[in-house]
Amino acid sequence: MRKIVIAGNWKMNKTVAESVKLAGEVVAAAKDIKAVTVAIAPTYLALAKVAEVVAGSNVKLAAQDVHWENQGAFTGKVSADMLKEIGVDFVIIGHSEQRTYFGETDATVNKKVRKVQSLGMTPIICIGETLDERKSGQLESVLTRQVNGAYDGLSADDALRTVIAYEPVWAIGTGVTASDDEAQEAHAFVRGLLAARYGDSVAQSISIQYGGSMKPENAAGLLAQKDIDGGLIGGAALKADSFLGIVTPGETLSK
Ligand code: PGA
Repeated sequence: MRKIVIAGNWKMNKTVAESVKLAGEVVAAAKDIKAVTVAIAPTYLALAKVAEVVAGSNVKLAAQDVHWENQGAFTGKVSADMLKEIGVDFVIIGHSEQRTYFGETDATVNKKVRKVQSLGMTPIICIGETLDERKSGQLESVLTRQVNGAYDGLSADDALRTVIAYEPVWAIGTGVTASDDEAQEAHAFVRGLLAARYGDSVAQSISIQYGGSMKPENAAGLLAQKDIDGGLIGGAALKADSFLGIVTPGETLSK
């Protein structure tokens, strides 16, 4: 059995006060959600306050990034134990915006995954191809490199404590979603990569989210696909009703 995991990635949006308000709305709206794991990822600045809002609820707390070192002279960065202390459950790692704008590589993704896991938090490992890569037939080679890089040195037990987010870069924030079939095909390929590394039973137990312009209008079709186990939601997560409009269809699914 795999968990459906729906996470809201708020990116660089919402002040602390706005974050507290939205978190409160999500907690209230999600109170009867049982089958789906719901998480929200505010900015670092708002995490501690939002932690207080979600405490005792069924909404999990996620961070948008982390540094792999414990402490020290890394201006602008936040360590995993700082996240752990305030109750973070999930950490988004390797988002395409990190890869594109801030020099994230498969090697730094791997270091972050290991650090986060060493403290008992769950990494959400983001992978996905650009439009040029897809058009030039590199989809499979890009996903293979990203998965093998992220999971380098991880045991099967470690792998079971990860979530993957497949996010085609061309679908992020563009309003263009991968079709149900395109997404399913990529997810099945990624699950095959996990099976090759860890065997089928481990691969069948790892949740693979879809991300990229997911919204209430297209969520049910995507979530109904055999290998799509949730979503990493940007724009549509900035309002409680559209976010919960994605969470709700997952309630009836079991994978
Ligand atoms: P989007 O972002 O839903 O706004 O496309 C998804 C993401 O970047 O995680």
